[in-house]
This record gives sequence, structure tokens and C-alpha cells, in this order.
Amino acid sequence: MSSRRAALVTGAAQGIGRAAALRLARDGLDVAVSDLEHKAADVEQLVNEIRGYRRNSVAVYGDVSSEEAVVALVDQTVSELGSLDVVVANAGIFEAESILTSEYTWQRVMDVNAKSAFLCIKHAANMMVKQGKGGRIIVASSLAGKQGAANVGAYCASKFAVRGLVQASAAELKQHKITVNAYAPGFITTPMRTRRSPVSNTALEIASLSHIMTGLDRSALPTQGTPEEVAGLVSYWASEEAGYVTGQTWAIDGGTYF
Ligand code: NAI
Repeated sequence: MSSRRAALVTGAAQGIGRAAALRLARDGLDVAVSDLEHKAADVEQLVNEIRGYRRNSVAVYGDVSSEEAVVALVDQTVSELGSLDVVVANAGIFEAESILTSEYTWQRVMDVNAKSAFLCIKHAANMMVKQGKGGRIIVASSLAGKQGAANVGAYCASKFAVRGLVQASAAELKQHKITVNAYAPGFITTPMRTRRSPVSNTALEIASLSHIMTGLDRSALPTQGTPEEVAGLVSYWASEEAGYVTGQTWAIDGGTYF
């Protein structure tokens, strides 16, 4: 890998994505910060913070469930920052709803969480193969991608899909020195966990915890993790030292699920 490296982080306006973008900048990478257009104020603030670390940064907007948008994110990153060496496909949505859910909720959750992972891997890998210097692809899975639970069927399916996709693409891309790994957080204190569900008007924090803990050892109820702790794992996988680790979905959940 060349000494100057550039990353693209999706869903970076807040939460885990924001922490990951800052961490990669502190590690010395230039960072393209991506989210939906309506998050522009938060994204622009993050761009300024990253520039404060004396790294180059650019804001790139788009819905990651759209192939056209993901192609544009990759192209803009390369045209503004010079290359694409690390992608953190972090953007995602959480809905707690019965398996009797609407087809719309199922489709939207699958599109934003699973299809987006496929699109980010596909277009990042195409760019990295063209560049010919390997790369690092990091995707957001979940504890819910390792353990099914009541009332989070669409979310679980989308995060299990990420796990399979990570294994398959790691096998395919290792010949190009591109690693593909996923983090599987348990309970991380981010805006995702504190907003109220538009469907049930319950706090998603409570809904998600109790559903995902069903069937697991409740005595192992974890303390909450921080976005910075997930960013630490992202930092490792993005590093040159992590070249021998690929196809993994690593839990970061306080020992909830082994
Ligand atoms: P968050 O809700 O705080 O932030 C997610 C960001 O993604 C937001 O800024 C949002 O605008 C953006 N986003 C949503 N849909 C998008 C789309 N279609 N296109 C582009 N951007 C979009 O979420 P958080 O907690 O930081 O989670 C990040 C990732 O980690 C997600 O994939 C989530 O499923 C996963 N995760 C989080 C856990 C937690 O406890 N916070 C637990 C397990 C997994």
C-alpha cells in the first residue's frame, strides 16, 4: 500500500460511522465522509474536524441502497482524495417490528443494510482491483447477525446476509489482497439506540435489547459499548498489519454471545 491512503465511511454523520471516520483520520488517512443529504450540517462539521487533524476530507452524499449513488460515492472519493484504500460500509437502519411486518419494512431494511453492503463491496472492490494495491473493506453486521430474535426479523435477516457476503467476497477478493471483515456490535450508545420507533413509539433502545437478549444468557447482559470502541476495531482492520485477517465477523458486545 502507498503511504498516502484514503478511506470512505458511510453513515458517518453520527454514531459509529462518525467515530470511525475520526479514528481513521487520527491514524493518518484522508477520509471521505458520507451520509444522506439532510445530514449535511453534521457531515460538514465532521469534515472540518478531520481537516483539524491535517488530513484531507470531503463530504459525499447519497443513499447507499442505490447503485447509482454508491458508484458516485466511490468516484467522488477517488477524484477528490486521489485513491480508495479503505471502505467502511457502516450506514444502516434498525426497525423493531413483528415478523408480521409490512413488505415495505422488510424491503427497506434489506435494501439499506444488506443490498448496500453488496453495492459498497462491489464498487469498492472494482476500484481497488483497478488501482492494483489491495485494500480493506469493513462492513457493519450486528449481534443480530449472529443470533435471531423475536420482533427483529428483517433486521436479523439483513445482518445475517452481511455475514455471508463478507465470507464470500473475502474468498473471492483475497487474490487481489483485498480483505473484507465485519463488526458485530451488541449495544453501542449511538442515536440509533435512543430514537423512538415510528412504528411502535417505544424506545428502540429498550425494544432492541430485550428482543435480542431473548434466548441468550441474561446474566451476561453487557455494559454498553461506545462508538469509539468499534472504531478501534475498524482502525485495526484498516491497518496494514491486518492483512492476514479476512472473512471475519467479530463480535464487539461485552461478551453477550460467544
Ligand atoms: P445511527 O443510526 O446512529 O447512524 C447511522 C447513520 O447512517 C445515520 O447518520 C443515517 O443518516 C445513515 N443512513 C441511514 N440510512 C442511510 C442510507 N440509506 N444511505 C446513507 N446513509 C444512511 O447508527 P449506529 O448505531 O451508528 O450504527 C451504525 C451501524 O452499526 C449500522 O449499520 C447498525 O445497524 C450497526 N449496529 C449498531 C448497533 C448499535 O448498538 N448502535 C448494534 C449493532 C449493529
